[in-house]
Amino acid sequence: MTPALHEVNRPIVRVFQTAEMASNAVADLIEQRMLARPAITLGLATGATPRLVYRKLVERAGAPSWRHLRCFNLDEYVGLAAHHPASFAHYMRELLFDHVDIATARTHIPDGMAPDLDAAAETYEQLIAESGGIDLQLLGIGRNGHIGFNEPGSSHDSRTREVQLALSTIDANRPDFPEGEEPPATALTMGIGTILDAREIVLLATGSAKAEALAAMLEGPISLDCPASALQRHGAVTVFCDKAAAANLNFEQLDMRGSAHAAA
Ligand code: F6R
Repeated sequence: MTPALHEVNRPIVRVFQTAEMASNAVADLIEQRMLARPAITLGLATGATPRLVYRKLVERAGAPSWRHLRCFNLDEYVGLAAHHPASFAHYMRELLFDHVDIATARTHIPDGMAPDLDAAAETYEQLIAESGGIDLQLLGIGRNGHIGFNEPGSSHDSRTREVQLALSTIDANRPDFPEGEEPPATALTMGIGTILDAREIVLLATGSAKAEALAAMLEGPISLDCPASALQRHGAVTVFCDKAAAANLNFEQLDMRGSAHAAA
């Protein structure tokens, strides 16, 4: 594994010099878990952050095989067909699914085109449960601290459902849409409760735009204002980040929190 510049425990935080090194380390971890458990259930994320992770996984595709695993994506826009270039279904095919040996039937993305979105959300939860739950969930983090599309104010018990996107999220994702096309205002997303049910969680954060959100997630109180702070409640979270995203972290404080947890 790539050596980290700084490490603290609970949540484990691993800081790397560059986004590429952090992404490499995340790809290594995913591969290790796939080797240990070929029928693993993965939770996957989209967005700019995990692109390099998927590229690394595709470069090394073949060993381990993707044939026996199942994966569930965090979210999808409401009203975007799977062939729309900004849909997360399209993103996943382009970056990962078309390049590894996984059958489409084993890949799951919330159905943002479903006529009954509540029913689609419930079906998604059932499918996750029937597959035995998510073993390893990959997350990014929004500038406002969102995870999945759970914006500030989302209940930490929330399940898969339709949500209203924050204006800042719509703006951040606008470049993914064809010129002049307004991004959808709502999405289907796993809830924070759904995410917390994963047995292990890996959050990747890169770039200075994430520094504030990462500090709020790790050092702030557990609060509805920062959805990612709910991850402090989970016992198996590892944050992989680059130096830029770690810029606002106070490692002494995090180390002390680690020992307080360890003593508890
Ligand atoms: C993506 C997702 C979002 C992103 C977050 C960060 O499936 O659920 O929470 O992880 O918006 O996006 P990027 O990586 O584009 O900064």
